Amino acid sequence: MSIPDADLTAAGLALNVEGAVATVTLSRPDRRNAMTPAMWRGLARIGAEIPDHVRVVVVRGAGPSFCAGIDLRMFTAEGVPGEPRNPDPREPGFDERIAGFQAGYMWLRSPSFVSVAAVQGHAIGAGFQLALACDLRVLADDARLCMKEPALGLVPDLTGTKPLVEIVGLARAVELCLTARTVGAAEAAQLRLAELVVPAAELDAAVSDLVAGLLSTDTAAARETKALLRQAAGNTLEQQAAAERAAQARLLRARTSG
Ligand code: ACO
Repeated sequence: MSIPDADLTAAGLALNVEGAVATVTLSRPDRRNAMTPAMWRGLARIGAEIPDHVRVVVVRGAGPSFCAGIDLRMFTAEGVPGEPRNPDPREPGFDERIAGFQAGYMWLRSPSFVSVAAVQGHAIGAGFQLALACDLRVLADDARLCMKEPALGLVPDLTGTKPLVEIVGLARAVELCLTARTVGAAEAAQLRLAELVVPAAELDAAVSDLVAGLLSTDTAAARETKALLRQAAGNTLEQQAAAERAAQARLLRARTSG
């Protein structure tokens, strides 16, 4: 990948690609990995440049918290050094600016790889939405999830509302967002917001085990299968059955022609 380490560091990110596994680390532990537009742009850039051979992307946070959400200085008069103020809908380009932030989250759904959030401590607002953008979530037992935006007079707009509803259902999503309450790891597991909850000291090992399992299946089959699963909810049974046939044909054709 051609992203200079210095650019990633300036954005509060670190990236390590080892074989088929890319690990993206939010690296502003002194601010609990609070997110700035630079960090969202950096995530989008990683997504745009992720090598084809990568099959698993792990997203993690350095320090005690996965991510404390948007850098709250964005809402102050002094702002975040080097960044324009928070987008104002009265100014042109508002929609494009938010779409640019969302690009930092969208790529994690790519069928090319499975994305795994490794969450310890707090995942608040934009940070909770980052965990929701991943296909799978492994939580440490000290994890605390909160969709804080409505409490701050905002809507969650970093692609988190769709996965939240898909995972917990509409009623629970309304309750979680409109109370902005904090969900602990045990409840997160009950609500299926976590595939796995482990003691905090075992988070890295549990993620490594999961990654090994994900790498044990055939690459092309895994990619076609993730694409199928992601479209299933929006398809009728007949459409999904047709999509399965088409995927199988593509897969087998590619194998015999390669
Ligand atoms: N933005 C900017 N700075 C932050 C943020 C944030 N979101 N979160 C933490 N920090 C800073 C703190 O100001 C503090 O800085 P300091 O050392 O200069 O005083 C440092 O990170 C450590 O924070 P603490 O509060 O001391 O850490 P603690 O582990 O006790 O608490 C917690 C962590 C719960 C995450 C707390 O910091 C917090 O509530 N942060 C704000 C969360 C928030 O409201 N985020 C916005 C959500 S909405 C959205 O994302 C769109």
